[in-house]
Amino acid sequence: MNKMLSLLYAPRFPAGENKKTVDEQLQNILKNATSEIEVAKAFHELNDLKSRYIGKKSELNGFMQQMGKLSATERPVFGKKVNDVKAAIESLLEAANERIKENIYTQSIATSSFDFTMPGRPVLMGNLHPLTIIQNQIEDIFLGMGFQIAEGYDVEDDFHNFDALNHPKDHPARNLADTFYIGKDTLLRTHTSTVQIRTMEKHKPPIKIIAPGRCYRNDKFDLTHSPVFHQTEGLVVDEGISFKDLSDTMDIFLKKLFGSEVKSRFRPHFFPFTEPSAEIDVSCVACGGNGCPTCKNSGWIEILGAGMVDPNVFDILGIDSERYTGYAFGCGIDRLAMLKYKLPDIRLLYENDVRFLRQF
Ligand code: PHE
Repeated sequence: MNKMLSLLYAPRFPAGENKKTVDEQLQNILKNATSEIEVAKAFHELNDLKSRYIGKKSELNGFMQQMGKLSATERPVFGKKVNDVKAAIESLLEAANERIKENIYTQSIATSSFDFTMPGRPVLMGNLHPLTIIQNQIEDIFLGMGFQIAEGYDVEDDFHNFDALNHPKDHPARNLADTFYIGKDTLLRTHTSTVQIRTMEKHKPPIKIIAPGRCYRNDKFDLTHSPVFHQTEGLVVDEGISFKDLSDTMDIFLKKLFGSEVKSRFRPHFFPFTEPSAEIDVSCVACGGNGCPTCKNSGWIEILGAGMVDPNVFDILGIDSERYTGYAFGCGIDRLAMLKYKLPDIRLLYENDVRFLRQF
């Protein structure tokens, strides 16, 4: 071994050193590396030491380069010794790296005015508006029963808001006092029933849609009225659709929305575009039907308008009223939100006070 090393390294070492054994030389490298790495204070110093001790031009790598010249039995023994030293230096470098990192951190804490222990500022998360929550629930219930979601326009014309819905020309709802007119024939829709008409214009039966959206009426803001509010329309048209289909669907809808203990009842009513028509009440969700201020002591709360599509509407739209029947319903989303969340005033839904909105 000695013979080999003096052969390999004779030109590199001063005469006196030539005689050192390979183990001595390796230990020497490790000793020097250890003492230099242990006192290094910065990352760039570590980088220099790394290339000097285990880099391509390092003494250690020089040993490796010469391995090929050894015999097959000497090679693994020699290789292991060199590799052990290399691994030891690598772990020294790693430990020093950690030590320097730690130092920089503690120093910056000591010298900085930043309080690392201070709790972070809470990030305010947005949340859904109560009207959106209720609308999503309604959509989920009807999607589950095979309905599709249809959309119409907030700005409408007389035809879709009134004429096609069988309103006579002198119907009181057409009055300026009730309806926001934008032009002679242009208005903000007063109900989502306009989407019934738009859907039947575009699609042949079978039709099974709901249409949630904004509506407008010339009402002053008060506890229960808002000039803008929300409805969900529903329309089902096919052969053989009956009033029983309407009442079953409404019953399922109201039980899913308010809970299975809720009861519903139909009261005869009038709408120009349905015949027969009904208003649908639920047993008061605040008192369970015993009577309280919410239900004005009646035990019931009006929730929906509904009825069988008037054959006149089918005739206006060119749908065969001998062959097809259908039902329609409309419910106020704001009212549902007020009932579900026990809101005393509809205006809360429109004031956008975050102290209120954050509660949902
Ligand atoms: N459009 C009616 C309203 O706004 C509600 C309704 C819809 C009634 C569909 C019957 C059928 O009061």
